[in-house]
Amino acid sequence: MVQHQLPHPLPAAAAAYPGVLLVDHPAVTDRVTLLRDVLTPSNVFRQLVSEVSAFVAYETLRDLQMTEAEIDTPVTAGVRFPRIAETVLLVPVLRAGLGMVQSIQELLPLTRVAHVGLRRDEVTHQSNVYLNRLPSDLAERRVVVCDPMLATGGSLAQVCSLVADRGATDITALCLIASVPGLQYFHSVHPQVRVACAAVDLELNDQAYIVPGLGDAGDRLFGPPD
Ligand code: PRP
Ligand code: URA
Repeated sequence: MVQHQLPHPLPAAAAAYPGVLLVDHPAVTDRVTLLRDVLTPSNVFRQLVSEVSAFVAYETLRDLQMTEAEIDTPVTAGVRFPRIAETVLLVPVLRAGLGMVQSIQELLPLTRVAHVGLRRDEVTHQSNVYLNRLPSDLAERRVVVCDPMLATGGSLAQVCSLVADRGATDITALCLIASVPGLQYFHSVHPQVRVACAAVDLELNDQAYIVPGLGDAGDRLFGPPD
């Protein structure tokens, strides 16, 4: 059997963090490599973000509540089969989280979307909230926060705090790349929030970018803001 060598100890890094699901199917990992590639153009990058997001959501949301519906097939009337019962609230973190929403909505029959906008200060690396469109009562709702990058973990931690402040107890964070220090920090603030990602990278650089990462996800999706 051929032994495949990974350039980074990615699964081992993820396994060290309870509550982190690493979706490392070859079809996902191959796409993440293309996302990392600086030569991947914006239109392909957007498509890949969309596809990887759907894979990560698919793996993470296996425990959605189901109900039974009565249907007629072309050959039998009145048979009962499972349907998804739960409405999931997707919370994309602007800007980059927007790139994850459409494919997840296409995966699930029942979704709502509530946008939250954060911008990380380039010097302090602290994120500031500039938009919060969360519903006032999230007590009975499964909330799925979507942000492709978990770098220091500060942005995701702030969003999950906003969501928890509205009463949510069932919170999942979907990312594409998470850093080890970011996962450590996030888990210390929100130990009850499940995190799923497609890759775990070991380090941050001096600008708090994930290394090797994929660069600025928002800029690669939408272009620089200024
Ligand atoms: C990026 C990314 C996360 C955040 C991660 O957003 O989408 O929200 O940085 O960094 P952190 O884990 O260190 O907080 P950014 O602030 O660049 O905004 P943008 O999506 O509008 O480009
Ligand atoms: N935000 C990004 O888009 N990329 C990083 O590596 C860190 C923060």
